[in-house]
Amino acid sequence: MKLLLIGSGGREHAMAWKLAQNHKVEKIFVAPGNGGTALENKCENINISDINELVNFAKSEKINLTVVGPEDPLIKGVVDAFKKEGLKVFGPEQRAAMLEGSKSYSKVFMEKYGVRTAKYEEFYDHIKAIEYLKDCEYPLVIKADGLAAGKGVNICFSKKEAEDTIYSFMVDDVFNGAGKKIIIEEFLEGVEASIISITDSKVIIPFISAKDHKQILDGGKGPNTGGMGVIAPNPFVSDEVLVDFNENILKPTLKGIKEEGYDYKGIIFFGVMMTKKGAYLLEYNVRLGDPETQSLLSLMESDFLELIEASLDEQLDSYNIKWHEGACCNVVLASKGYPGNFEKGYEITIDDKVKNNVFIAGGQIKDGKLVTAGGRVLSVVGLGKTIEEAKAAAYKNIDNVSFKDMYFRKDIGDC
Ligand code: AMP
Ligand code: GLY
Repeated sequence: MKLLLIGSGGREHAMAWKLAQNHKVEKIFVAPGNGGTALENKCENINISDINELVNFAKSEKINLTVVGPEDPLIKGVVDAFKKEGLKVFGPEQRAAMLEGSKSYSKVFMEKYGVRTAKYEEFYDHIKAIEYLKDCEYPLVIKADGLAAGKGVNICFSKKEAEDTIYSFMVDDVFNGAGKKIIIEEFLEGVEASIISITDSKVIIPFISAKDHKQILDGGKGPNTGGMGVIAPNPFVSDEVLVDFNENILKPTLKGIKEEGYDYKGIIFFGVMMTKKGAYLLEYNVRLGDPETQSLLSLMESDFLELIEASLDEQLDSYNIKWHEGACCNVVLASKGYPGNFEKGYEITIDDKVKNNVFIAGGQIKDGKLVTAGGRVLSVVGLGKTIEEAKAAAYKNIDNVSFKDMYFRKDIGDC
């Protein structure tokens, strides 16, 4: 089989690594890929991002299956474009991708089908939004409706902060249109979990739960990042939480997918807040998480391509996903200075013995060498029977990776 994988992050390197393990796979084109996929078994990067060009490439290269990594192309309708040409593709159709593409759309869906979520109001007019703040309790959460590169959510601790956020999102238009409409939401206190799942529109099957570590500094301090590490399973996701999640989030979501008639053969990622009052849905993502994927695919014993094919064939109800026993810790190695300014272009060395434990995110090939090219440079994973063992393995593996100005958190998995 010839595959096309769309995306360029650490998530896509992990997806390519896992897909390449299927013996039916001869070749994986990664569009545009990164320095990790450039060096990965069976993989070749191609520098295409335009949807029509991707469709033409898939036709001319006789690609058997296209797998979409990030949300952007999904929200732009890449799946619909491929299907229109009779091409096989894994991911939700555009209508369903709006569950991530618009916070307002997803909140309406949640309310319509009884998915437990924070109370909210939506606003198109900044004057009305500011007026509404008068009677609010703080903190409260303000969210830009559209995609804002992970920066469109602000937790406001005072009325002044909320007003400033409204001005910046709606009037100054810092997200180029994505914040013209906002939602103001009740603040939920608790611990977060990423419950990433696969669906074929008939069933939703959750993977192992994961816990992202978003802040740059140990102890969960400092500014937010794209994610500095992951522990899976998430130690806070007890059986009781899973029962609650299943009843109040998963089941009503599936009902919604069916009743809306979505053609959804892809990943559905539930961003959950576990509170004293139970599990609440913060958001849907319509793709795998980054850096959760690097942990989850390392723990997955089942063949990833077979799992995707089971979804495309609507056979997920009879597919039993197998997992390696134990846990996986993923530590992100970043460039010093991230999420602020940082230098790029430093050579990355990776000892062969940890090759299967390293996934490149911000790295590219320059003059034949793998060099740093982003804030979050790569993930190093470690597996173990317990979280403690997985953590020890991950930190030991880091000794086999080096680049100048390397920074990483020392407490991933400490919770
Ligand atoms: P979202 O993109 O909606 O997941 O929001 C990004 C992050 O903001 C989440 O991962 C949470 O850490 C935080 N967040 C979002 N909504 C809420 C809420 N209602 N209460 C508390 N924190 C929130
Ligand atoms: N790690 C969170 C996300 O992928 O959205």
